[in-house]
Amino acid sequence: MMSLWIDGEWIDTEEKVPVLNKYTGEIIAHVSQATREHVRKAVEGAQRAMQEHPLSVQERYRILSYISNQLELQADRLAMTIAKEAGKPFSESRTEVLRAVQTFRISAEEAKRISGEMVPLSSPHAQGKLAFTLRVPIGVVCAISPFNFPLNLVAHKVAPAIAAGNAFVLKPATYTPLTAISLMKLFEEAGLPKGYGNLVIGSGRTVGQYLLEEPGFAYYTFTGSPPVGKHLREAVGLRKTTLELGSNSAIVVHQDADLDLAADRCAKTAFNNAGQVCISVQRIYVQEEVYDAFLGKFKPAVEALKVGDPSDPSTQVGPMISETEAMRAEAWIQEAVEAGATLITGGTRDGAVVSPTVLTNTAPTCRVCSEEAFAPLVVVNRYQTLDEAIMHVNDSRFGLQAGIFTSSIDVMLKFSKRVQVGGVNINDTSAFRADEMPYGGVKESGVGREGPRYAIEEMTESRLVVIHN
Ligand code: SIN
Repeated sequence: MMSLWIDGEWIDTEEKVPVLNKYTGEIIAHVSQATREHVRKAVEGAQRAMQEHPLSVQERYRILSYISNQLELQADRLAMTIAKEAGKPFSESRTEVLRAVQTFRISAEEAKRISGEMVPLSSPHAQGKLAFTLRVPIGVVCAISPFNFPLNLVAHKVAPAIAAGNAFVLKPATYTPLTAISLMKLFEEAGLPKGYGNLVIGSGRTVGQYLLEEPGFAYYTFTGSPPVGKHLREAVGLRKTTLELGSNSAIVVHQDADLDLAADRCAKTAFNNAGQVCISVQRIYVQEEVYDAFLGKFKPAVEALKVGDPSDPSTQVGPMISETEAMRAEAWIQEAVEAGATLITGGTRDGAVVSPTVLTNTAPTCRVCSEEAFAPLVVVNRYQTLDEAIMHVNDSRFGLQAGIFTSSIDVMLKFSKRVQVGGVNINDTSAFRADEMPYGGVKESGVGREGPRYAIEEMTESRLVVIHN
């Protein structure tokens, strides 16, 4: 399969990577593996494109709008590709495609609003001079994306890159390259000038490392694990980076919460994409007074989730990305139970499918609490006071998003001010995200923000211009 897109050419290589249907295990495609030479050619082509053909705002707008429209027209086909290569249930995959439609549309609109600012000069020696800033494209963008949103997390990297006037080299996850290939074909169809878009495929240890060693990149945007994010930051020196590194998101259910709402939202958003979402609900803290009532509603809501084949439109929870990952989740659940946790429901595994699992009385040091689980499991524990709940939320290396269910404005405000995260949802879980919002974390959840407007800011430099008379 012609699967590398380098400086305007589709390339096939001898060395191939198989792509599996994550539910059935069958091979659905073989894609080409890039070499260091491909990476170099991609970066050189991208640099040349930016020098020879700066993208006008009209071109950026037209290309991004075209892709947005095409994604909408082809939503079912793309959703089925995601369902197969990522194991994400079809209905959720369709939602992902429709979110990517928005990500491209918003990026197209934001391309028209990039502007600098006047700098008022008041120093005596600056009298009569005029100063202002321009926002200029940062340079070639290196985008490294994860398997869990094979379309929309690619969109959040490449659409703002083009909106800002930059060329990009994309390395999608090797688990899920097919959706990225379809997206690059849309860029080609849209008439993106040669060299502006490049796709390389291969593992982090090979192609990922070649990308870090290329001096031609001005900026790196990465979503993935904290160890890889730290390695990237060390490797790329003073170049700008945006890192989105996941979390073990916490939710608080206060005694004045709407418990039906809380139970329903927690059940729906702890198991999306089999829990493989960076803002998936992982830790739920419930105030003592309503703990039993909450669990009485939450447990049946979890048990009602339909588990199975992701290509069936009625499935709500599909497989994890691989059997190895499912075995890891199973081991973490067993570790928690051996340390004294109570298994409320789930805890079984069939191949890559782990049943939606709820644990309680978990020790904070167990990996199901302290690490990012990235699996269909959630822990539910009690608290007495709001201060104690906030302490639990903050007792984490991570800080991406959090949520609280309460009807008290005082509680909402106190919680929002004191939790150490990038975003707070009130009366919804950590997992709510609209694509125009700033998205990113604190602590080991990363640095920088995505969301087209914020990503464009990261992908442009502010240049000062002073007119002297
Ligand atoms: C992520 O897993 O980081 C993305 C979550 C989302 O976009 O909903």
